[in-house]
Amino acid sequence: MATLPQRIVILTGAGISAESGLGTFRDKDGLWTKVRLEDVATPEGFARDPDYVLDFHNERRLIVRDAVPNAAHHALARLEQFWPGEVLVVTQNVDGLHEKAGTRNLIHMHGETGKVRCNICADVRPWDEDITTGLHCPNCGTVGQLRPDVVWFGEIPYHMERIHDALAACDLFVSIGTSGVVYPAAGFVAQVRMKKRAHTVELNLEPSDGASMFAEQVNGPASRIVPEFVDRLIERLS
Ligand code: OAD
Repeated sequence: MATLPQRIVILTGAGISAESGLGTFRDKDGLWTKVRLEDVATPEGFARDPDYVLDFHNERRLIVRDAVPNAAHHALARLEQFWPGEVLVVTQNVDGLHEKAGTRNLIHMHGETGKVRCNICADVRPWDEDITTGLHCPNCGTVGQLRPDVVWFGEIPYHMERIHDALAACDLFVSIGTSGVVYPAAGFVAQVRMKKRAHTVELNLEPSDGASMFAEQVNGPASRIVPEFVDRLIERLS
């Protein structure tokens, strides 16, 4: 694209954290090949067997807590720091690695493993301990209704209005490490393309299911292709 983008929106998925040791969901050894998402990532699964769901999330929270950002997360933080326009990262990841790398303008559309939510009063707060069915909600006192503050299948992702506004206003949309099968995120590129002047780029290990929707494709591991992409953008400033 010829002119410098003023507003950049970057969508990230599990692939950006793969090289930080966090598995993806749908790759060969992905999480959804090992556990049934209906059992651990739906409100119905929680209603059926809350202890099983909470054990699963408590284990995930510990894995995520020890993970460190890789070169791709750091490159996006650098872009935000140096870019004269707005850079917004919208992540489907619940792992907290973008903020660990220093990204500040960030939307967690699928929530965060490091927070807890009450099913009754919707109180949300940081939570660094196991969640169990014996706990009281610190706000309303209800027992057994605390859950991780992550969006499960069948629930509406967070901050959708803000995300749609940002997509409508952006002139560069970049999708990194996401398979392009889970909506609404999978539909973001179509929304951006309705606005002809916005450029769209996919950075992914291999072409995703939605690859043909993007004007530009770069394939390879995120820890290499994301810093290269950011360097190319920043070079255009000089
Ligand atoms: P997926 O597991 O569906 O897709 C991960 C994508 O990352 C794939 O396209 C891989 O090719 C790519 N990938 C893998 N390793 C990579 C690497 N080193 N560098 C670059 N790309 C790499 O994960 P998501 O698209 O994030 O939702 O999944 C979307 C949502 O489905 C998740 O947020 C989660 C899941 O179920 C909920 O839990 C609600």
